[in-house]
Amino acid sequence: MTDTTTLSPAPRRIAVFGAGYIGLVTGACFAELGHRVVVRDIQPERIELLRSGDVPFFEPGLGNLIIRNKERLSFTLDADEAVQDAEAVFVCVDTPPTASGDADLSRVWAVVEALKNTASHLVAIVVKSTVPVGTGSRVRAALDEAGLSGVGYASNPEFTAEGSAVADFLHPDRVVIGAFDEATAHWVEGLYTGIEGPVETMDVASAEMVKLASNALLATKITFINEIATVCEATGADITQVARAVGRDHRLGPHFLNAGLGYGGSCFPKDSRALRAMASNSGYPFQLLNAVIEVNELQPRRAIQRLKSELGGLRGRRVALLGLTFKPGTDDMREAPSTVIASRLLAEGAEVTCWDPMARPGEAEPWTSTTRHQDVAGAVTDADAAVLVTEWPELADVDWHAAARRMRAPLILDGRNLLDPEALLDAGFTYMSVGRATRYGRATR
Ligand SMILES: NC(=O)c1ccc[n+]([C@@H]2O[C@H](COP(=O)([O-])OP(=O)(O)OC[C@H]3O[C@@H](n4cnc5c(N)ncnc54)[C@H](O)[C@@H]3O)[C@@H](O)[C@H]2O)c1
Repeated sequence: MTDTTTLSPAPRRIAVFGAGYIGLVTGACFAELGHRVVVRDIQPERIELLRSGDVPFFEPGLGNLIIRNKERLSFTLDADEAVQDAEAVFVCVDTPPTASGDADLSRVWAVVEALKNTASHLVAIVVKSTVPVGTGSRVRAALDEAGLSGVGYASNPEFTAEGSAVADFLHPDRVVIGAFDEATAHWVEGLYTGIEGPVETMDVASAEMVKLASNALLATKITFINEIATVCEATGADITQVARAVGRDHRLGPHFLNAGLGYGGSCFPKDSRALRAMASNSGYPFQLLNAVIEVNELQPRRAIQRLKSELGGLRGRRVALLGLTFKPGTDDMREAPSTVIASRLLAEGAEVTCWDPMARPGEAEPWTSTTRHQDVAGAVTDADAAVLVTEWPELADVDWHAAARRMRAPLILDGRNLLDPEALLDAGFTYMSVGRATRYGRATR
């Protein structure tokens, strides 16, 4: 049994289950800290790709980190092989929503099952996946029942954001470690020796809640500013000026105050619904979160409504979507507002073209019914309107004069308030944005 009384700096031997965004970043960063890491996944093509030196998705810096640490980082499909020499197993599998909004924990339990006969030598099983409060207690009970009381358990939720995940992991605002005993917490803390950031140790249930509460609060902040933006539109205030000054208050901070088309991605929508479901299951209707979720779902639909009234209907209109991913700097399309926008446009009888430098929308509707272009110029050609959906920095550098000439009528809805209204007006556009004077200029149609 490994000594758990002192911090355990590298090198340790770690198995990571799940080669997705979180598992790969965790594995590569632990290897960077000097640990020996085996990453296990159940998708053969993913493991094959990783073995050949490729990364299955875009995350800045991750590919280089994997290559730099290839001596200490390996990939396998075989659970037993991953665990046999490991001291700790990190569970980084996906926890998608079920039809009821609860988190689907089947993959977490599949890992626990796989470990039951092979884990007795482990110091700790560490869950990074986002799970409802109480999951750790249930896993602990299952491990005890399987005769694994000597194996520690920790909840170690992950707060990295896609697009900056490597930097976030190595320079975190905090590392949260929840454990049932001090020795396990201390040992897991040792794995992070070398990273720059405070460590918060606590009980398991609280650690699980920190993750859900953090995401719900961030979702609430975004939704709050979107609500203020709507009131700005109705009253003549300018959300960009309002948000800038509000964010100067050190009690509030400037982050997550950009009004837009609503939050998306693999975490905020899923985790806020999971927290709402968890609260409801325990008899408490989380009304504030209900409102946040509802307002966010409305946000892209409002954009369609505005477009529809500006164009006098959408049937037969061609609309160009500029940016598809849920935010810039990632290729992740999970719960991207663009999907709702494209679906609604198609349902209204519009034709949809699009551009995105990185998105991987997949072979499913609405994307099979849209035409993707390699550049913005192609996407806006003969369009009746463009919607800036994702604030890719490239869009700030587009030649908007040339774009206006290519369009049937130069109308743009800047869904992220990225562009300069005056410059767009000058280029001949009718310019609409979120939370600012409803529209500038009038294009001839
Ligand atoms: N993506 C984020 O930004 C983020 C941030 C913080 C927390 N999280 C949480 O981390 C968890 C993982 O998220 P993700 O975005 O990395 O998911 P993902 O879908 O990108 O990756 C999950 C991986 O786990 C693999 N997997 C499933 N079952 C497995 C098993 N039994 N053994 C080994 N691998 C298995 C899948 O094949 C997939 O490759 C989720 O709970 C998520 O909520 C995600």
